[in-house]
Amino acid sequence: MGFIGSGSIGRALARLAVESGHHVVLSNSRGPETLADTAAELGPLASAATSEEAATAGDLVVVAVPVSAFPHVPAAPLAGKTVIDTCNYGPERDGHIPELDSTALTSSELLLRYAPDALVVKAFNTIFFKHLLSLARPAGATDRSCLPIAGDSASAKAAVTEFIDSIGYGVVDAGTLADSWRQATGTPVWGTPYGPYSDEKGHPADEDAIRTALATATR
Ligand SMILES: NC(=O)c1ccc[n+]([C@@H]2O[C@H](COP(=O)([O-])OP(=O)(O)OC[C@H]3O[C@@H](n4cnc5c(N)ncnc54)[C@H](OP(=O)(O)O)[C@@H]3O)[C@@H](O)[C@H]2O)c1
Repeated sequence: MGFIGSGSIGRALARLAVESGHHVVLSNSRGPETLADTAAELGPLASAATSEEAATAGDLVVVAVPVSAFPHVPAAPLAGKTVIDTCNYGPERDGHIPELDSTALTSSELLLRYAPDALVVKAFNTIFFKHLLSLARPAGATDRSCLPIAGDSASAKAAVTEFIDSIGYGVVDAGTLADSWRQATGTPVWGTPYGPYSDEKGHPADEDAIRTALATATR
């Protein structure tokens, strides 16, 4: 797996991925040398590289950056690949982006503008990274949580579902990238189902809870 962005959510995902036996290649904006300690901590399945190299290395590539960094995501190596978009738009951090302010595009559709041949799947944007780490459970556990995913490619969604299952979560299909506003910042499914950030352990949210939250989204 390649990681474009290895901050809070990227590192949490990389940790769960390594624990489930996946190889991970981390990258950030400052260069691989700044990720040497993180890679060493994650163990022999982890390494650090440039964003181009991470995008090239992964069968599955995670984009976990501020939305304002989308123009710097390397497009060519992502062509034809399944790309997980964890990102949330926040004008206070990203500056105002007119297509997102007007809701003409979802943030994943904006990513697609910069990486037009990627098979983008929105996932993990709705869960606080500490909850992601603490709520992972094996298949069959009664307290397993679900995550919403959205995308336009059935095969990419299947690949992401398989990955998410491997790291300890079930999935609720929330539709297409155009539908992904239902899981955007501030919607009922965003953060809330797993409890407040002040409770670092969070609490499980099953399929019904995620479906209900998605169904009550408005804009
Ligand atoms: N934090 C959460 O719990 C959480 C949960 C779900 C979704 N998200 C969303 O996921 C995204 C990442 O959040 P985060 O909390 O992980 O942010 P973060 O801790 O600030 O990390 C951002 C990462 O993106 C990298 N980056 C920035 N510009 C880049 C570029 N041009 N090329 C390659 N890498 C670049 C940064 O590298 P440098 O440090 O070298 O600049 C850093 O590794 C955001 O859109 C956020 O809304 C966050």
